[in-house]
Amino acid sequence: MTITVKSANLEADASAKISELIGSVDKLPTPPTVYHQITRVLDDPGASAFDIASILAEDAAMTAKILRLSNSAYYGLRKDISSVKQAVVVIGIEGVKSLVLAASIIDAFGNGNKRDSEYTDLFWRHSLAVAFMAKIIARSIKSNDFPFHELSFSAGILHDIGKLIFSSYLNEHHVDVLKFAGDNLVAEIVAENQIIGSNHSEAGFFLADKWSLPATLKNCIALHHHPSLVPDEGEVLPVIHLANYLVHYSDSLNAQGYCEQTTALNEDVWDFLDIPRDKQEDFLEELNAQFGKAETFLRLVS
Ligand SMILES: [Fe+2]
Repeated sequence: MTITVKSANLEADASAKISELIGSVDKLPTPPTVYHQITRVLDDPGASAFDIASILAEDAAMTAKILRLSNSAYYGLRKDISSVKQAVVVIGIEGVKSLVLAASIIDAFGNGNKRDSEYTDLFWRHSLAVAFMAKIIARSIKSNDFPFHELSFSAGILHDIGKLIFSSYLNEHHVDVLKFAGDNLVAEIVAENQIIGSNHSEAGFFLADKWSLPATLKNCIALHHHPSLVPDEGEVLPVIHLANYLVHYSDSLNAQGYCEQTTALNEDVWDFLDIPRDKQEDFLEELNAQFGKAETFLRLVS
């Protein structure tokens, strides 16, 4: 079975289940408009930093976030960035795109469910840690043609987005899910299947599909716990599967109280990505060193 076939099945199943669970799909956040406008421009091979800057100029809040971030310790640049055009040149078009997507998603859900703000906070820390870890892993892939560092970052931010649907729209069930996972020492996805009869991969896939996000991102959301390792489907999904697993087992992040359990690692992922297993410790060390940047990122885009 290929990833594509599994996703297609998920599409029909998830759509019916999630609509039924939350009552009306109209309750879900609307798609990130700026992200789609930018994606459209980027699909045009002739697009320039100027084109991106003119789209962002219409969204003052987004412009301010991009400028704050470009000038922050996150990028550690020496010179002042005073315009979006300059930011696009320095951060790169893909970099700006992943920033816009991240900021749009964080915006779309606001602070999540106010009753659950502690969970929402941990959720974004975990998602950002996976995004950073995904970029660290992507950089270590030997093949020079792995051009998906920023896409891996975006996929890391988005991979668990379905959990926010549960926490925001099915809060009482979600509280039961967290209790079940904690009492039985199982992954949230196992508890969700048990308590809700659906899971965050299905819910997230449903949202990503409604938002017409790219297929790679949809696959990462749908299959990050159980990837089929199929060469034709690219390497972003295995990167996210590995990043998520490693972050769950990183002591410093677990100490913050996020659900510690996750599903098993598909051990074939190391060979698939052609990364030696003993790199694991280096990856975790690098993540710990970079985690301060993740905090900055979260503060500046939300
Ligand atoms: Fe997950």
